[in-house]
Amino acid sequence: MREQLLALEKRAIEELEGVKDPARIEEIRIAYLGKKGRLTAIMRKLGELPPDKRPEMGKLANRVKENLARRLKEAKEAATLGRTEPVQYLDVTLPGREPLRGHLHPITIVIKEICRIFSAMGFRVVKGPNVELDYYNFEALNIPKDHPARDMQDTFYISENVVLRTHTSPIQVRVMETQKPPVSVIAPGKVYRRDSDVSHTPMFHQVEGLLVDRGVSFGDLKGTLTSFVHQMFGRDTTLRFRPSFFPFTEPSAEVDIRCVICKGRGCRTCSQTGWLEILGSGMVDPAVYGFVDYDPEIYSGFAFGMGVERIAMLKYGINDIQLFFKNHMRFLRQF
Ligand code: DAH
Repeated sequence: MREQLLALEKRAIEELEGVKDPARIEEIRIAYLGKKGRLTAIMRKLGELPPDKRPEMGKLANRVKENLARRLKEAKEAATLGRTEPVQYLDVTLPGREPLRGHLHPITIVIKEICRIFSAMGFRVVKGPNVELDYYNFEALNIPKDHPARDMQDTFYISENVVLRTHTSPIQVRVMETQKPPVSVIAPGKVYRRDSDVSHTPMFHQVEGLLVDRGVSFGDLKGTLTSFVHQMFGRDTTLRFRPSFFPFTEPSAEVDIRCVICKGRGCRTCSQTGWLEILGSGMVDPAVYGFVDYDPEIYSGFAFGMGVERIAMLKYGINDIQLFFKNHMRFLRQF
């Protein structure tokens, strides 16, 4: 048995000599040390030896086994190391790989564009709190507790007198409370309503505008918003002012633009009307001035509010508002 073991060891070492293929090394391992391998076969016969020979042969067999196992392991390591070696070199002549660069979300792009247009006309950008007092969100905007207009806005209540703001209009009141005319501000921000379907999300964005001074007329409102629409949607965009109602403006008007999809012929996006509503506006109601201590005999002004998602959808031809909040890279990369 001693000769058998030593011969087997020698042969295995010779077979392993110079082998660089990991798969081949594994084959050799299985042939010798595997369950049906040659060394394993010899070791099975240890039990047949006379008891006094067993310890010596057992020791020898184990030494051969350990030796082969170690050599196989080393050969395998050397072989796989050889494989990975080429990629460890740095080829400085290869063209560089450009890192992924982020960019602004389409909603942010549109908010910035709106603010840029109004800033150029002299409006100052201001902010207000998302968690708002009932007083600013409703009361001081001439929407008392029992007013039916409260039903239009499915409000998230924090407590009886605290809400998530349902629009950016409360910022108007906060500005007038702290500043005497002339004021001209633009206020972008998130707003919240209990509403969720293909055209509504519980959180969306609005931009509010307010201008108050001596002698401000409805003509100023029309001129300002016409200029905005032309800059936002192009000079050839037709718009119209349609009489409407808001508790905090009198008179009130909604602004429609000619449908950007069908150019006015009538389609699904504009419900066959040829027009798309893009914002609400009006002359600030004297009742609101009462809450902020402005004298309506001296001052007048206009206000407007627009939905950012809606404007972004029309500008980019997007038909599902939910896309803005799903963060799919294939959608976002287009902007
Ligand atoms: N706050 C209104 C809304 O969310 C929009 C609005 C209408 C704002 C008329 C105004 C305005 O400032 O004058 O539906």
